[in-house]
Amino acid sequence: MWFSVAIICVGLVLFIFKYVFSGSGPNPFEVDTREPLKKMVHDRKEKNKVLKQGFLASKVPKDLDAIIIGSGVGGLGLAVLLARVGKKVLVLEQHDRAGGCCHTFTEKGFEFDVGIHYIGDLLPHKPFRCMLDQITNGQLQWEPLDNPFDHVVLGPPENRRHYPIYSGRNRFPDELKKCFPGEEKAIDEYMRLVKKVGRGVWLLALLKLLPSPVAKFLVYTGLAKRLSFFFQMAPRSLTEVVNELTENKDLRAVLTYIFGTYGNAPNDASFSMHSLLVTHYLNGAWYPKGGASEIAYHMIPIIEKAGGAVLVRAPVHRILFSDAKEAYGVSVMKGQEEIQIRAPMVISNAGIFNTYQKLLPKDLQAMPAIQKQLSMMKNGAGGLSIFVGLNGTKEELGLGANNYYIFTENDFDDLVEKYMKGKREDSAKSVPLLFVGSPSAKDPTWEERSPGKSTMSLVSFANYEWFEEWKDDKVNNRGAEYKELKQAFIDNILEVVMDVFPKVTRDKIEFIDAGTPITNTHYIGAPKGEIYGADHGIARFNPELHATVRPQTPLKNLYLTGQDVFLCGFAGALAGALTCGSVLLNRNLHLDAITLAKKTNYINAKLKGE
Ligand SMILES: Cc1cc2nc3c(=O)[nH]c(=O)nc-3n(C[C@H](O)[C@H](O)[C@H](O)COP(=O)(O)OP(=O)(O)OC[C@H]3O[C@@H](n4cnc5c(N)ncnc54)[C@H](O)[C@@H]3O)c2cc1C
Ligand SMILES: *[C@@H]1O[C@H](CO)[C@@H](O)[C@H](O)[C@H]1NC(C)=O
Repeated sequence: MWFSVAIICVGLVLFIFKYVFSGSGPNPFEVDTREPLKKMVHDRKEKNKVLKQGFLASKVPKDLDAIIIGSGVGGLGLAVLLARVGKKVLVLEQHDRAGGCCHTFTEKGFEFDVGIHYIGDLLPHKPFRCMLDQITNGQLQWEPLDNPFDHVVLGPPENRRHYPIYSGRNRFPDELKKCFPGEEKAIDEYMRLVKKVGRGVWLLALLKLLPSPVAKFLVYTGLAKRLSFFFQMAPRSLTEVVNELTENKDLRAVLTYIFGTYGNAPNDASFSMHSLLVTHYLNGAWYPKGGASEIAYHMIPIIEKAGGAVLVRAPVHRILFSDAKEAYGVSVMKGQEEIQIRAPMVISNAGIFNTYQKLLPKDLQAMPAIQKQLSMMKNGAGGLSIFVGLNGTKEELGLGANNYYIFTENDFDDLVEKYMKGKREDSAKSVPLLFVGSPSAKDPTWEERSPGKSTMSLVSFANYEWFEEWKDDKVNNRGAEYKELKQAFIDNILEVVMDVFPKVTRDKIEFIDAGTPITNTHYIGAPKGEIYGADHGIARFNPELHATVRPQTPLKNLYLTGQDVFLCGFAGALAGALTCGSVLLNRNLHLDAITLAKKTNYINAKLKGE
């Protein structure tokens, strides 16, 4: 019996290796495409010529190879990969500028970004960095945050405890140990588990790349769990694992604080998802030099060079299907007119719910295979963002290139439960968890762009239903009650911020406004105001889900990219693009990126005379 299992396993491994290593399509990472650094462009009008190209039927290139719905990094990233191998791609974006969560906007002279506060894993020799350099022609630069890069603040105003979080494989645990003497064993064991889980994530990508029957075989035989510690630990909640390690309540909190980066309270968070985030920032944290708009700004020209286009104010109304249920294009609403555009494949970056529930005809939406995928996913938590424009430099305001996670208590499960399930008036008066960052302090070009000014970004969660009644009102005219509710959140959050940052005072505030879940629906197309797309709770980490929700959809010529087909975050959405690109180009682009990283590293090392 065991012998035959062993033979099957060996056969399977050989098959996996054959499939994974022998790419047949063209390789977008064939050669190093980085160009010498050009002068940065700060002029907003110049940048808008790239980022804000409005949709017109006449601007649609002829003989398209693909249409991508949505210009988030999952859409643009994929478009660049396809452009690199000569494909002509049209990216359609509903908002008035490209970028999705990476877009920026300006109010009263302050530039704010939306969904990029810090990104990890960007050491120059890492494959992720190499891949990003390639898809931006080496023009997108990354500025490291301070170390400590995060600060955890726990407790009420009269008893706030402050724990700095350092990056560094050794420094991270060593500094924690200084804060929690006597807890060395717990911290070491936590690190061991986190790293071991992080190393097992390859199987998640593989389940989406292997032919479906092989992926299902791995899942239903239980091999997926045997092969990867990632899936072994996935059903265990963060609370469960951490509570076994230590009795210290503050340490428990500090080992779980980063749940805000994927949005599930520790008792619903998968230890595996959490481990990915911890390892993501273990070697440091970075911010895009020049702000988040630089990301799309350096990707779009590559798409255009191959004959493609990125057009905004282009809400896709529906995906077009032949009688044989094959996608052959999309339609875009231009005012009252519906304009049809054809292409041999359609890839959606708009998220699984928008794609399946809004863009498919009813009969296709009802297909059991589509319904099965929908039943495996749910809408994630809604986001609340407060944008603050300040009169003063970072020095005058005491702001740094770092983030603060501020909690009123150390029992996060309880805090989140009470807050999210509370009545909106009550929750607005005491927001128990808050992320605070200063994008301007992280960007070395800021002082030159906006001398004497600063920005802060404050982020928390919010229940979509608190705001749902105003969802159909015009975005800038939602009435007094809506404004009052927003103001209640702003006032409460501001009080916390001014307490933790004493140099930030009311008289310094030149601009302040809040974005609610319905704001996210309008600007980033999040159907329930989700901050990170589909929910990342424990259910998301069932191996069956990852073998089922993959770039191929049950409908021919329709594919998915971005955060819902992989995981959330800038890196997660790009992994979605790489995975989708692998399927479309019939080769493993994850490995191609690693191969090029090794090659260019070698070149760089040689140049330096090492
Ligand atoms: C407030 C906030 C803070 C964050 N902070 C960080 C961080 O610090 N670090 C990090 O790594 N990640 C962060 N994230 C998460 C990260 O930004 C996202 O996970 C990632 O960028 C998602 O990329 P995406 O391409 O999958 O989707 P999106 O960027 O959401 O792109 C989807 C696009 O599709 C468009 N669309 C939808 N429907 C249609 C339609 N019918 N027609 C045309 N277009 C359509 C939308 O307008 C949108 O532009 C944050 C997110 C938010 C909201
Ligand atoms: C900003 O602060 C400076 C003094 O620090 C003051 O002179 C100036 O008027 C302020 N600007 C605004 C717009 O409030």
